[in-house]
Amino acid sequence: MNSLVTDAHKAGKRVGLTSDQIVIRGGKPLEGRIEVRGAKNLATKAMVAALLADTPSTLKDVPNISDVGVVTGMLEAYGVSVTEVAPGELLLDPSNVEKAHFAQIDALAGSSRIPILFCGPLLHRLGEALIPDLGGCRIGDRPIDFHMDALRAFGAIVDKSYEGIRLTAPNGLKGAEIELPYPSVGATEQVLLTAVLAQGVTELKNAAIEPEIMDLIAILQKMGAIISVEPNRVIFIEGVDKLHGYNHRALFDRNEAASWASAALATEGDIFVGGAKQSELMTFLNIFRKAGGAFDIHEDGIRFYHPGGPLKPVVVETDVHPGFMTDWQQPLIVALTKAEGISIVHETVYENRFGFTDALIKMGANIVVHKEGIESVTRRVPRRPLEQAAVITGPTKLHGADIEIPDLRGGFSHLIAALTAEGESTISNVGIISRGYEHFIDKLAMLGADFDYEG
Ligand code: EPZ
Repeated sequence: MNSLVTDAHKAGKRVGLTSDQIVIRGGKPLEGRIEVRGAKNLATKAMVAALLADTPSTLKDVPNISDVGVVTGMLEAYGVSVTEVAPGELLLDPSNVEKAHFAQIDALAGSSRIPILFCGPLLHRLGEALIPDLGGCRIGDRPIDFHMDALRAFGAIVDKSYEGIRLTAPNGLKGAEIELPYPSVGATEQVLLTAVLAQGVTELKNAAIEPEIMDLIAILQKMGAIISVEPNRVIFIEGVDKLHGYNHRALFDRNEAASWASAALATEGDIFVGGAKQSELMTFLNIFRKAGGAFDIHEDGIRFYHPGGPLKPVVVETDVHPGFMTDWQQPLIVALTKAEGISIVHETVYENRFGFTDALIKMGANIVVHKEGIESVTRRVPRRPLEQAAVITGPTKLHGADIEIPDLRGGFSHLIAALTAEGESTISNVGIISRGYEHFIDKLAMLGADFDYEG
C-alpha cells in the first residue's frame, strides 16, 4: 500500500472495535481518485471458462475480492492450477483436471452463485458435475430453473440431492434450441459455457446481452468458439471439438464505478474513478445527470462530482441491459434521500431488493416500499409480476445509526449512508462488501473518509 493509504489505514485503526466492524463519522465529502479494476461479474465467469480449454489461460485486471477466492477454490478442487503471476494477473492451467472430493466443493457452498456455472465445463471435461447449494445475495429466492432446463435441453441428467446437484451426460451434450423465460444473465452464461463444446448448433432466444456477457463471448471467441449475437438478442453457438486458452484483460466493474459515483453525489464530493468507461455506463450517466450530478469523461476514467445546488428527484425503472442495472439502484437511492422532491425506483429484476432501505429509514430517510409495485404513467419497462417500488421523499437529513449489512450492494449503500449522515455510525458484518468491492477500506481512506476499522 502506498504511504498515503498506509497512514490513512493506520489512522483508521482503533482498539475496542469488534472484528468486521467499521465506525464512520459522516458529513465529509469524499474527494480524490480511486481505480476500479476487473468486473466481479465477468472475471469470475472468465475463470470458469478456462476450464473448457486444453491449454493455460491468462486473465488480467482480476479484482482482489472474495468471489474470486471462491472460484479459485473450486477450480483448484478440480485440479486446475491458479497462479497469480503478477498483481491482478492469473495464470489458469487446466491440464490436470480431475474429479473433486465433494467435501472440498461443499466447503465452498453457500458463499457465491458462481459454482452453478461449472456444470457445462465439468460435464464436458469429466462427464459429471457436483454443484453445492448456492450462496449469493439474499435479494429474492434466486431460483436456478432456467439453468437446469437449459442443461437438460443439452442432454444432461440432473439429480438434486440434499447437499446440492449432481449432473451427468451419458450421451454427451448436443446443441439445443433454448428460449429463456427472462433474459437471465446467469442462465445465458450457463448456455454459452455448455454450448461451445456441444455437438452441433445451439440457438438461444431471449438471451441477456449485458457488457459482461459480451466480454465473456469475446473470451470464448479467443478460445476458438463460434458465437454470433443477432439483433433480436438471439445467440447462435456452433459447437467445436476443442478450445485453447485465452489471454484477456477483464472489462472494468461498472457496478463498482456506479457505486462510487453515487457516493460522490450523496456526500457532495468529487471522485475520479480510474478505469471507468462511458459506453458501459450510458444509462447510469443519464440518471446521474438528471439527479443533479455532473461528470467529465476522460480517457483513463470518469470524474463524478456534485456541482452544487439541490439534487433533483428522478423516476427510474431497473431493467436488463441497456436499461438501468438493478445493481445500480441501491447506492443511488442514498443520494435520492437528499433530492428535493419525490423519487420512484421500480425494481423489475428482483422481487426483494429494497430490504436495505430499513437501515436508511432508521437513519432518518423517508422511504416507502410498495411490495406489489406501483403504476407509473411514465413507464417504459413492461411490468413484471414480482416487481416492487420504492418511493423516496426528500430532502431528509440522515443521522448516524448502528447497522447490520444485509447484502453486497445494499451494504455498500449503508456505507454511503453513514458517510452522508451527520454523526457516527457503526456498521457490522462489513466483510460482505469485500465480496465485490476490491480494497474498499483503502479506497475510503484515499477519499478522505473519517472512520475507524478493525478488519
Ligand atoms: C447476475 O445475477 C449478477 N450476479 C447480479 O449481480 C445481477 O444483479 C444480475 O445478474 C442481473 O443483472 C453475477 O453475475 C454473479 P439473473 P444472476 O439470472 O445471474 C430470475 C451483484 O450484486 N431467475 O439475471 O443470478 C432471478 O430470480 C449481483 O453483483 C429465475 O427465475 O441474475 C431474477 O429475478 C446481484 N430462474 C431474474 O431472473 C433462473 O434460473 C434475473 O436474474 C435464473 C434467474
